[in-house]
Order: sequence, then structure tokens, then C-alpha cells
Amino acid sequence: MILVTGGAGFIGANFVLDWLAHGGEPVVNLDALTYAGNLQNLQPIAGDGRYRFVHGDIRDRDLVERLLADQAVRAIVHFAAESHVDRSIHGPEDFVATNVVGTFRLLEAARAHWAALPAADRGAFRFVHISTDEVYGSLGPADPAFTETNPYQPNSPYAATKAASDHLVRGYHHTYGLPVVTTNCSNNYGPYQFPEKLIPLVIHNALAGKPLPIYGDGRQVRDWLYVGDHCAAIRRVLEAGVPGEVYNVGGASEMANIDVVHTLCGILDELQPRADGRSYREQITFVKDRPGHDRRYAIDATKIATTLGWRPAETFASGIRRTVRWYLDHQDWVADVTSGSYRDWMAKHYAS
Ligand code: NAD
Ligand code: TYD
Repeated sequence: MILVTGGAGFIGANFVLDWLAHGGEPVVNLDALTYAGNLQNLQPIAGDGRYRFVHGDIRDRDLVERLLADQAVRAIVHFAAESHVDRSIHGPEDFVATNVVGTFRLLEAARAHWAALPAADRGAFRFVHISTDEVYGSLGPADPAFTETNPYQPNSPYAATKAASDHLVRGYHHTYGLPVVTTNCSNNYGPYQFPEKLIPLVIHNALAGKPLPIYGDGRQVRDWLYVGDHCAAIRRVLEAGVPGEVYNVGGASEMANIDVVHTLCGILDELQPRADGRSYREQITFVKDRPGHDRRYAIDATKIATTLGWRPAETFASGIRRTVRWYLDHQDWVADVTSGSYRDWMAKHYAS
């Protein structure tokens, strides 16, 4: 059995679906179902005997310890987090609670479970910590991409709490020998992404006839990775990653935000033209910049490519087209997640 935390969120759900589709062993998914958790994401495996959902918080150490023992867990893949930079600016406390305290409690439970395993199982146990490239800070236009040895310079409350969790994970390996592996990944996109993040938000707003908000000058650069490629990287890390090591994961697809939005508009113009025949580009609106907005992220994924043989299968052009098609084909999913508290968030954040 493997324990996935945050498996009802965007990347976690994609991972659980991908893991079982590739014949992986049974999964128990522990998720608190915050605004970002959605069990509909796991509908395709609802009846699968290899899958079990547990509604709970990673900070509940008793629950986690019980789960680890009862399910004979041999690996933890830790996705659960507060993950949206803008929300961390409006309210950082939940980020400290889940990303820092939550990861700490999970590590404590994992350490107790691991220490009690028979010697043979202890060596095979893995704690895979899913983190972000945002811990490394912001790059200048000519800087080389982030490697695993870049210093940590987190700039947002989100990045700072992820950095703290990475340090805790590292400390548990160094001090206690817990077999951890950390991945630091670039911006993901693909199916089931909550439409508060740039790509699904733009698709949703475009189709709804709403403005496409670009922060500042739109020249900020992200290194986009199709979520299925991220899942493949995590599978590979679980299989062959070396305990104590860090692996950077990226799509080798640096794009300025404004170019991402133009690409999305171009695909939508082709696949679902506006009724008036004009381009979705007319909906682009420049809005006030995010405070402390990082200018550029880029990942050097040489280490995972050369040591584990992982490379992304999708280019940005192929992955973004697949993604737009998915959102067009899953309007019910979008309608469900954009009701209720989502509307409150949009009103509060974009009003300013
Ligand atoms: P998400 O916000 O879509 O999902 C997070 C999930 O965690 C949700 O299902 C939520 O209910 C659950 N959760 C939150 N707090 C919890 C708690 N206290 N206990 C149990 N469950 C809880 O996030 P995502 O985009 O899928 O990101 C997953 C992980 O990948 C995060 O750790 C994030 O930092 C990391 N990451 C994300 C990206 C990206 O582009 N989305 C890139 C690199 C790394
Ligand atoms: P986002 O998807 O929030 O991811 P992250 O902040 O983790 O990189 O944002 C991606 C980029 O898009 C980031 O530079 C901020 C920008 N952005 C906008 O320009 N407008 C928006 O409405 C959003 C949500 C993001």
C-alpha cells in the first residue's frame, strides 16, 4: 500500500489515477478536502478495489499513525499543501498550518512507523516530498536555470512555507535516517486544475466572456510542465530515487505569461470560436501586479534525466492543446468547482 496525501487536489488526483492505470499497488488517499480538494477528480476509480479514501488532516498524527500501521504502508507520497501564491498573500496562516506544521506531523508519524518496521522493510520505505521550484526564488533573464544546489530564496508566504517543509524533510533524513526523496517541480498544468491558477482560469473566463487578467506587464516567465509528465517523474523517483537526494523536475518550456494567454486564446479561437467571430484575445486585461511577483522560474532537470532517465513526453504545444480539449469536454466539472466559495474568492481578489 502507498499513502498519498492531498490526492483529491490537482496533481495528487492525477497521480493516483496515473499510478493505478500503470498497475501500481493499492493507494490510500488522505485528504482534508479543503476548497482545493474534490472527490469528483477521482470518479474514474470510485469502484476500484485498489483505492481507498480517508477524509482527514495530515496534522492529525494519531490518524496518520493508525493509517500507516493498519495499511502496512511502504511509501508516502506527500502532495497535501496550500498551494496558491495569491491566497498565501491574502492569508498566510493556513500555509504555515498545513505546509509547515502538517509536514512536520506527517514526518513524525512516518518516523515512528518506519522505526517500527522489520529491518528488511525499513530500507525499502520511502517518504517522497513533492515541492516546488518557487523555493529557489526568482531568476534574472540571463541566469542559468535552477539546479538542486541553488540556494533557497523563497519570496512569497507560499514559497517560504514550502521551503520550511523541504528543510524539515532534509533534517529528518540527516538526523534520523528517514529515507526521504524531495522533488522540486515547475508550474504544472493539465486536467483537474482548480481554476484559480492561470491556465484553467483563462480558459474558464474566456468561455464565460469575462476579462483575462494579466498581472503587471505579463512578461513573468514560468517553466510549464504537463501534469502527466510530473506524475511519471514521481513514479520514477519512487522506483529508483536515492534517499536523501533532491530532484528538480521541469518541462524545459519557459514561457512568458502573456504568451501563454495568447496561445490559449489561439487554441480556443480554433476549437470553440466566439459567437461574434472575434478573438478571445480581446478579453485580455492588464491588472495590478501581484506583490513580490517573481519574475522568472526555470528548472534544470539534468539530474533526473541522467540518473533516473526521466524526460517530459509532452511539449508545451501538445500539452496545452490536450488541456484545452479536456476543459472543453469537462464543462460540468468546471461548473461544479466554480460555484460557491470560488465566486467569493474571485470577487475578493480581482476587485482590487
Ligand atoms: P492543490 O491545492 O490542487 O491540492 C492540495 C490538496 O491537499 C487538496 O486536495 C487539499 O484538500 C489537500 N489538503 C490541503 N491541506 C490539507 C491538510 N491539512 N491535510 C490533508 N489534506 C490537505 O495543490 P496541487 O497543485 O495539486 O499541488 C500539490 C503539491 O504539489 C503541493 O505540495 C504543491 O506545493 C506542489 N507543487 C505544485 C505545483 C503546481 O504547479 N500546481 C508545482 C510544483 C509543486
Ligand atoms: P499561478 O498559476 O498562480 O502559479 P504561480 O504563481 O505558482 O507561478 O500563476 C502563474 C503566473 O501567472 C504567475 O506569474 C502569476 C500569473 N497570473 C496572472 O497574470 N493572472 C492571474 O489571474 C493569475 C491567477 C496568475
